[in-house]
Amino acid sequence: MVIAIDGPAASGKSTTAKEVASRLEYIYLDTGATYRALTLKAIENSVDMENGNELSRLALKTDISFKNARLYLNGKDVTEEIRKPSVDENVSLVSSYPEVRKRMVILQRKISKGRNVVCEGRDIGTVVFPDADVKIYIDASLDVRAKRRMLELQSNGVNITYENVKRQLQARDDLDSKRQHSPLSIPEGAVILDTTNLTIEEQVKKVLEIIESLKRV
Ligand code: DC
Repeated sequence: MVIAIDGPAASGKSTTAKEVASRLEYIYLDTGATYRALTLKAIENSVDMENGNELSRLALKTDISFKNARLYLNGKDVTEEIRKPSVDENVSLVSSYPEVRKRMVILQRKISKGRNVVCEGRDIGTVVFPDADVKIYIDASLDVRAKRRMLELQSNGVNITYENVKRQLQARDDLDSKRQHSPLSIPEGAVILDTTNLTIEEQVKKVLEIIESLKRV
């Protein structure tokens, strides 16, 4: 069983997907984390983010894996590090290169193979699992998303203004939805869920209801 959840940054999809996976006892796959891990590696190796060929080569020799909900980059736990602002700033560009995406999609399918999975990202229902059993597209207004992301960053000790968070989110939305390869879009057959006025618990409940109703069809 594959449950595909797509949507823009800070729409609430990660929190919801993680909780839904836990309640259903499915594995949770955060595909954004795989692009973040590669971006972190590129920063560490001072790779030019405009150089798609170099990033593709880096992707080939980078080992990314999940264990007990922790993310490992060549054996090192980078679960927290991949959320830092320098990764936020570069990840949309890194994930725009087709060869990088090809490698990540292979990895994401390999992790999910033969398992019940809640998989979230930008191209899950369109590219990674176009035949997913359930497809959900989670969205929320830019203002609410910026507020959520600001609180998340502040709770991690990052001092950033609301305006800056909003500007960064807008820039990532643009890059993610306008890129040539596998842009963020609403998958065919997806149920759209707007979380602007929902609490996390309400979002989780709605997603579980959608899954239940589609399972019965
Ligand atoms: O979900 P996130 O914010 O952690 O994702 C980080 C970036 O990775 C996002 O800006 C675009 C990219 N991404 C992608 O291109 N495809 C995915 N399936 C998941 C994320």
